[in-house]
Amino acid sequence: MKTPFRDRVELFTNKDVLKDHYEPEEILERDEEIDQYANALQDVVDGWEPDNVFVYGKTGVGKTAVTRYMMDALEYEAEEREGVDDVVSVEVNCHHHPSSYQAAIALVNELRADTDRDPLTTGLSTSDVLNALFDEIEAREGTVLIVLDEIDNLGDDDMLLYQLPRAKTNGNISDSQVAVVGISNDYTFRNDLSPKVQDTLCEREIKFPPYDANELVTILTDRAERGLRGDVLEDGVIPQCAALAARDRGSARQAIDLLREAVNVAVEDGREVVSEEDVDTAVERVERGRIKDSIKDLTTHGQYVLLAVTQMSVSGETPARAKELYEVYEEVAAEYAAEPLSQRSVHDHLNDLSMLGFLRQHDRNYGRGGGQFFEYELDVDAEMVREAMADEAE
Ligand SMILES: Nc1ncnc2c1ncn2[C@@H]1O[C@H](COP(=O)(O)OP(=O)(O)OP(=O)(O)O)[C@@H](O)[C@H]1O
Ligand SMILES: [Mg+2]
Repeated sequence: MKTPFRDRVELFTNKDVLKDHYEPEEILERDEEIDQYANALQDVVDGWEPDNVFVYGKTGVGKTAVTRYMMDALEYEAEEREGVDDVVSVEVNCHHHPSSYQAAIALVNELRADTDRDPLTTGLSTSDVLNALFDEIEAREGTVLIVLDEIDNLGDDDMLLYQLPRAKTNGNISDSQVAVVGISNDYTFRNDLSPKVQDTLCEREIKFPPYDANELVTILTDRAERGLRGDVLEDGVIPQCAALAARDRGSARQAIDLLREAVNVAVEDGREVVSEEDVDTAVERVERGRIKDSIKDLTTHGQYVLLAVTQMSVSGETPARAKELYEVYEEVAAEYAAEPLSQRSVHDHLNDLSMLGFLRQHDRNYGRGGGQFFEYELDVDAEMVREAMADEAE
């Protein structure tokens, strides 16, 4: 029987190594940041009360990977040293727990995971949850590091960020100590915090810059050695993935995605060697995937606003002003039988979409009398947006 499956072409030796959830055995090209991080946390292994740390940098620059490495190193080091309290770290991703209340529940359950205490039930009051968290921290009788990843998802809900650093002073804990490590790819988040929260949370700030092409070559070469057969990449493939990612956002995630997809293209074609053309194909695929994922994360009205800009772009009417876009947005909302938001909210959505890289914003200043306003246009491929939206609607 003839089946639709192709002959096996094995270019990977370990497919996981090029996947997003893979935790690298070695952190490369981040020596300076690791040094700063170690300085910020040195007090923990010296037996003092730790400072809070705020880590920021754009997406894909190693914040989560380096933080996990640092937490492992810290737990190990504390274990090795005589007379130093135990160190435990718990990590919560605020993208999945987007309020202080939800993040606190997740932390309690994470801390309870290796005990015989049951996870929290639902319907508890905020103070019940906070007290449960203080109890868990106290029970460790050591240093507890609370890692709040993608912390910008908490918005201005800074209850947890206010309470944790003060837990000791306020007498909520006494036998343990606690420090917060906040991670964000939005530096403006810091400025939105109330001044007293800012002061405590941001005692130590570590900035992760984007990677340049050479650094990405190092990271990709290491991954390729761990995950691919030795002879499958043409010489130009890694430098090309690195250059493209460096030019775009300096993201290691993007560079690794490109390499993985380029290999997949060759495998699907039944070829034993990955060429630079495969990287070109990979660029399209990765961009398509990225747009799809980010569209999924938008609110429905965010999606309608994006659709409005896309429609105007297809009919050649962009860059367009918020006022013009609002009219098209109203039509889109009507098509989906949704009550349109106010002009002001749509304005906020336009801003958000610009921050997320969907739109480009032009500042028009026509001097006195002409007025000053923004115009918007699509910064991603219109067809890709339409496809992704169509899939999303299914
Ligand atoms: N210095 C590095 N050495 C090895 N691998 C790295 C390095 N930096 C990043 N990576 C890899 O690149 C990918 C993205 O890194 P990471 O998840 O740490 O980014 P991030 O800064 O947390 O991004 P985001 O803000 O989107 O969460 C991961 O797969 C990670 O393993
Ligand atoms: Mg991260």
